Amino acid sequence: MSSVLITHIRSLVGVRDHYGAIRGTSLDDLTQIKDSYLLIEDGLISDYGPMSEAPLRANETLNANGGMVLPAWCDSHSHVVYHQSRDGEFVDRIRGLSYEEIAARGGGILNSARKLQECDESELFDESMLRIAEIRAQGTGAVEIKSGYGLTLESELKMLRVIRRIKEESDLSIKSTFLGAHAIPLEFQSDRKKYVDLICEQMIPQVADQGLADYCDVFCEKGYFSPEESRRILDCGLRYGLKPKIHANELYRSGGVQVAHQVNALSADHLECIGDEELNLFGGSQTSATLLPSTAFFLSLDYAPARSLIDHDAIVTLASDYNPGTTPSGKMCFVISLACIKMKMTPREAINAATVNGAYAMDLEDSHGSIRRGNVANLLLTKKIPSIAFIPYAFGSDHVRKVILQGKL
Ligand code: NIG
Ligand code: FE
Repeated sequence: MSSVLITHIRSLVGVRDHYGAIRGTSLDDLTQIKDSYLLIEDGLISDYGPMSEAPLRANETLNANGGMVLPAWCDSHSHVVYHQSRDGEFVDRIRGLSYEEIAARGGGILNSARKLQECDESELFDESMLRIAEIRAQGTGAVEIKSGYGLTLESELKMLRVIRRIKEESDLSIKSTFLGAHAIPLEFQSDRKKYVDLICEQMIPQVADQGLADYCDVFCEKGYFSPEESRRILDCGLRYGLKPKIHANELYRSGGVQVAHQVNALSADHLECIGDEELNLFGGSQTSATLLPSTAFFLSLDYAPARSLIDHDAIVTLASDYNPGTTPSGKMCFVISLACIKMKMTPREAINAATVNGAYAMDLEDSHGSIRRGNVANLLLTKKIPSIAFIPYAFGSDHVRKVILQGKL
């Protein structure tokens, strides 16, 4: 048996003896054990407690030196598989064009789709693995990755095979989402139904047949997919065993949250544009309200109403949305800073939302996202910091000293 002992932890953060999502105002309950140790055996958290009760030996020992130990971040919404950046569009937006205007000129998602269609599969893998290494170094231990820059049967399958290879070759825990309904390709714009038919009749059956995805997602938005089209695609995914997720209410109040609840989606993501009707749907619902504040930051959108969602007893989750168009960053510490500074979440709420609830929004809550005996030892060791509030407070500092995944130092 291999064992690793971490000693002299200033605070062991996110200790839980049970699993499951945290809803509503309970999100502020974050258990910490001061001056503690943590023992890992065979890649799993096997014990923890006050330093005075630490076991005497293990195969390997790491002195935390007054740093804190948290569960590694669980980022439940990303698009890290893509080819090349879109910094030209970034400059266009600075000069005054909106995200939608850029998309209407054939930029945006269609721009990334053109690039990806021409990119060789192994090059796409290498490029994506650099982003995986980047987010790993920033403390992420589990990530969901979407397709959606293929937009043809062949290229969607190529993207999903790249995600499968990342699953096999990286030490992060990975979930895969089919997002063929990310944008309507130019050649289908005069006959949108034909593209939805292609998704339902060819893409979803082949994706499911090849075991390439865990989830099915749709960008339900004005100019993208209507609530009716979204419903048809998500229902079809469900028949093939792909659980629904949805991009909802990012730019307009376009009915995405209602669709999420009709299909019992695992998560409804974005939610920048919601009102009372949508807020009420989240109360008591099992659908995670997944907020992506670095997208609102990058596009200068209004931030999602995190406090109202918490007051309505929603399961509030934080994720990065790492993608080339609206969030070229997977830095979860920055997401947490924005959640606190711009959405008025407390540091404790934000940490729970980026760990426990992130794990829930990837069906990993029984093994990830908290310090619990038997959980996978995916951990983040911080530098010496005075409190957990310091993480969002010092928003420009790099707090991560070491990331331990599957218990390996
Ligand atoms: O989650 N909203 C839709 N999809 C991405 C943006 C994709 C892009 O612009 O490339 C998002 O923000
Ligand atoms: Fe997204």
